Amino acid sequence: MTTALPRWPYPRTIAHRGAGKLAPENTLAAFRHGASFGYRMFEFDVKLSADGKPVLLHDATLERTTSGRGRADALTLGELAQLDAGSWHSPAYAGEPIPTLAAVAAYTRANGLHVNIEIKPVPGTEARTGAAVALDALALWAGAAVPPLLSSFSEAALEAARRVAPDLPRALLLDKLPADWLDRLARLGCVALDANHRELDRNVIEAAHRAGYRVACYTVNDPDRAAALLEWGVDAVITDAVDLIAPQHGGESGADRQMKAG
Ligand code: G3P
Ligand code: MG
Repeated sequence: MTTALPRWPYPRTIAHRGAGKLAPENTLAAFRHGASFGYRMFEFDVKLSADGKPVLLHDATLERTTSGRGRADALTLGELAQLDAGSWHSPAYAGEPIPTLAAVAAYTRANGLHVNIEIKPVPGTEARTGAAVALDALALWAGAAVPPLLSSFSEAALEAARRVAPDLPRALLLDKLPADWLDRLARLGCVALDANHRELDRNVIEAAHRAGYRVACYTVNDPDRAAALLEWGVDAVITDAVDLIAPQHGGESGADRQMKAG
């Protein structure tokens, strides 16, 4: 028996960390660059400052992508706001700040863009980060026609998000598919599997759909691979290659067509 699929009001292509590698990841400059290629949905990584404010940053430490040093959660929002998150990428982006989740909400809502908020806790802060990010998302996207999609590799973060914001859609990120991946999605009340694309083929995508889950995948940078995944019915591909992979704006995935036909 096939279970009905949850609502999926998102484009089938999602820009990874803003504009992938073409602009400094997880900055508003990257979002603007991704949007200039026609991308309408953005994945980004969120963790908490020392004073508990959600900010965009991939790593647990500051060195790789900012002018700061040490653990990201050792600095307050005011201290993080002083850092340069653009110079590491290229001089044109010098002085680009670390955005807050609030700044991203203001920009994306004003421009009709969709978001995939990856909850990326500093290790040891999983539940606290999941709850704080979900609560902030709930408030920042209040009244939005399309809710933010939350995702995380951390099941503790997803559980905490579910407790405080049960109606925000959640996806479980999996780098490898464990034997019990469908049970995990069920236990966490997820709407989607969000897998490393190397773990996917037509059979896995169809199994997820039959069980009532959407399928997203990361990070797909080869246009032929993206085309194959989309042809197999994947609901969204997350990509760095916003210059090579043409954005696709929703419409029906293969899964939706099969549901209507069946
Ligand atoms: O959300 C998908 C993808 O971003 C997960 O990997 O390390 O790029 O955050 P990472
Ligand atoms: Mg990410």
